[in-house]
Amino acid sequence: MNRIDGKVAVVTGATSGMGEASAKRFAQAGARVVVAGRNKERGKKVRDAICKDGGEALFLPLDVSDEEGVEAFVLKVIETYGKIDILFNNAGIFPVTPPLEEMETAVWDEIMDVNATGMFRVTKYAMPYLEKSRGVVLNNASVAGMQSFSSGRTYAYSASKAAVIQFTRMIAKVYGAKVRANCICPGVIDTPIFMNRDFSRYHDSIPMHRVGTAEEVAKAANFLVSDDAGYINGAVLTIDGGMSV
Ligand SMILES: NC(=O)c1ccc[n+]([C@@H]2O[C@H](COP(=O)([O-])OP(=O)(O)OC[C@H]3O[C@@H](n4cnc5c(N)ncnc54)[C@H](OP(=O)(O)O)[C@@H]3O)[C@@H](O)[C@H]2O)c1
Repeated sequence: MNRIDGKVAVVTGATSGMGEASAKRFAQAGARVVVAGRNKERGKKVRDAICKDGGEALFLPLDVSDEEGVEAFVLKVIETYGKIDILFNNAGIFPVTPPLEEMETAVWDEIMDVNATGMFRVTKYAMPYLEKSRGVVLNNASVAGMQSFSSGRTYAYSASKAAVIQFTRMIAKVYGAKVRANCICPGVIDTPIFMNRDFSRYHDSIPMHRVGTAEEVAKAANFLVSDDAGYINGAVLTIDGGMSV
């Protein structure tokens, strides 16, 4: 395990899926974890599971689409722990969208607002503290932000994830002297983001003939936010069983 003892790690979208698995993994690796998301019941459940396992965690409600709420959230983390060492921007949505000609602009806006602008907001308010602590940013993009998969009408989702990738690279370039920034591009990972969780439909397009687990992503995230990845900055890491090769 890549130790991150004593670090304060904020994980957005930690109430489910990869965020939940990463929050648990970061806590096992020694971090004090801020479990952030909108769903209080699930958030408290994740916090309780971490504490029961001997880790340290706090649940703080967060809607990344609420500008004032994001600012207040960051201040609350600072009030509680005095610093932020690790920011994992993981919150995201993947709604089923209609054909382009029928897609309302509001649908495009919502997807961009959560997946791309939400990441920008949290990073913006956390950056002064990350600079102070010489911290790390990790963003959750997607292989959909790198390649065009024929399977879906993911215009807004794919565009939002391409924005996540390039935003990460800009942060890595501009803040690299003090803050490392990387992003992960998961392929198909078995999480509640999928309404249809019969994943056999994807197996033929994945060289490993299976989808990934949230825990496998959490292990890679743990590495990237640890000092073991100390010279990795601006990386775009696919975690997709070879799907994008
Ligand atoms: N699963 C995949 O195959 C896959 C592949 C590539 C990339 N990704 C990306 O990986 C990330 C995690 O997704 P997942 O697959 O683990 O899905 P998930 O289980 O549905 O988790 C998504 C998380 O995002 C949070 N979230 C959604 N809207 C939010 C908002 N406005 N403010 C704060 N939190 C919000 C949700 O929490 P609340 O509902 O409690 O707010 C939830 O904790 C996403 O960015 C997704 O796009 C997923």
